[in-house]
Amino acid sequence: MPQRIVAGNWKMNGSRALLAAYFAAMEQAWMPLRRCEVLLFPPALLLSEALEPAAALGIGLGVQTVHPEASGAYTGELAAEMAVDAGAQWTLVGHSERRAACGESNEDVAVRAAAALRAGLKPMVCVGEVLTDRRAGRAEDVVREQLEAVLATVGEDLSAGAIAYEPVWAIGTGETASPEVAQAMHAVIRDVLRGAANGLADVPIVYGGSVKPDNAAALFAETDIDGALVGGASLDAAAFLAIIAAMETHGNP
Ligand code: PGA
Repeated sequence: MPQRIVAGNWKMNGSRALLAAYFAAMEQAWMPLRRCEVLLFPPALLLSEALEPAAALGIGLGVQTVHPEASGAYTGELAAEMAVDAGAQWTLVGHSERRAACGESNEDVAVRAAAALRAGLKPMVCVGEVLTDRRAGRAEDVVREQLEAVLATVGEDLSAGAIAYEPVWAIGTGETASPEVAQAMHAVIRDVLRGAANGLADVPIVYGGSVKPDNAAALFAETDIDGALVGGASLDAAAFLAIIAAMETHGNP
């Protein structure tokens, strides 16, 4: 049975003040977790500030991307080794905003996933099609290609990580994939994983794209949706807690 995960991606948002207020609110209303692991991906500069309050609640921490190299003349970049040294356990790789704005190709994403695993950081590999691909009936092919590029590089080592299916047309738009549409793609992803190597059938596959308290439970009720990668709503402690509660009460046991 895959681990359930509810993860928050703060993107380039937040401050030390917001982080302090956020964890204070989380502590107030925290629930003991029975079913899911909760992760937070704040901006890397806030990681050290988040270590103590996150550990107190059992929340895992991650960074939003890593560079393929362990060190060197790469101004502005962060190595996976540095993220581990700073207390991160996870990293996102291949978020669609980085694929689009930083030109990360499927191969770039694959080497970042490999770099993370080498350093002992768990990669949450983001895949997802843009609207034109979906309209052209290419959504499944695009997602398969994205996933297969990573699998060709890291193979069964991906068993330490997770996949986030994030249809690009649903990110930050308020438009969520219906539970049926999301489930259909999650089933494809599960098939690819199962066929790729032993031990990958139970890699968690989380959904991302405008997940909110009011749509989370219906998504989590689907067989192959093992959780959520939450952007906007994860910045609001009450909304994020409500999504965690939806997994704790409505997700598959
Ligand atoms: P959103 O972002 O929840 O704001 O749509 C999701 C993501 O980009 O991970």
